[in-house]
Amino acid sequence: MRIAVAGGTGVAGRYVVEAAEADGHDVVVLSRGTGVDVRTGVGLAGALQGVEVVVDTLNLVTGKRSAMTDFFVGATGNLHSAGSDAGVARMVVLSIVGIDRIPGFAYYRAKLAHEEAALAGPVPVTVVRATQFQEFAGQILDRIRLGPLATVPSMRIRPVAARTLGRTLVEVASDPVVGPMREVAGPEEIGLVAMARRTVQVRGSHRVVLPVRIPGATGAAMRNGALLPGDGALIVGPGPEEWLASPDVR
Ligand SMILES: NC(=O)c1ccc[n+]([C@@H]2O[C@H](COP(=O)([O-])OP(=O)(O)OC[C@H]3O[C@@H](n4cnc5c(N)ncnc54)[C@H](OP(=O)(O)O)[C@@H]3O)[C@@H](O)[C@H]2O)c1
Repeated sequence: MRIAVAGGTGVAGRYVVEAAEADGHDVVVLSRGTGVDVRTGVGLAGALQGVEVVVDTLNLVTGKRSAMTDFFVGATGNLHSAGSDAGVARMVVLSIVGIDRIPGFAYYRAKLAHEEAALAGPVPVTVVRATQFQEFAGQILDRIRLGPLATVPSMRIRPVAARTLGRTLVEVASDPVVGPMREVAGPEEIGLVAMARRTVQVRGSHRVVLPVRIPGATGAAMRNGALLPGDGALIVGPGPEEWLASPDVR
């Protein structure tokens, strides 16, 4: 079948593309780099012709909650309207485990608005909530540049490899039954600070990781395990050390 991967050049999206191609699907990548701006809608209608399923792995991280909410809600609205015009049968939308348990965090508020817009239809949607990626510590290290120092928030995570998650998203996308929201997590818990330090080591970098306590109820929830998966989560490997020994570390 033809699958469109919105954000198919990103950390998660590229593995969705890889897994879908390995299964013999015809894959269309929706990203500004491939000439499709999902937020403005430029190029979207043409790119969705003949597409049966859209997997949404889009992302925007900025300091402003309104900009992030506008992005996720606007892009989702465009996927729904262009998707229903093009006869798209269903969408799979990637979100994050525990975002409803963390008060006052702008990015997570935007992701909740994203989920709500996705579930509003008209195209039937399965939301897949994943835990932080094994790559997440590296993404933070790359975003926060204070010379040799890197400030990393203290939080409990149970990271999932983006590669395995990509495979899981293709399995969900291939199921013609649109199921309820589901959670996907890695097999082992680790602190984000510890994961960042190990990532620095494996990269051969000399950056010094400084733990930061996010203040108030937001930070307390993150430190107390609100981002960990529930009992029914699908658990997929590898664990942090096996992943850190793999070529996927960047
Ligand atoms: N990172 C984590 O630990 C984690 C954990 C669980 C869930 N998630 C969720 O997973 C999703 C993907 O995250 P990620 O870290 O893989 O993202 P990412 O690496 O930042 O990739 C974002 C993708 O979105 C595309 N994009 C951005 N703006 C676009 C636009 N206007 N039109 C079309 N494409 C656009 C980018 O391509 P162009 O720049 O070429 O447009 C890129 O392909 C997010 O929804 C995030 O909340 C992340």
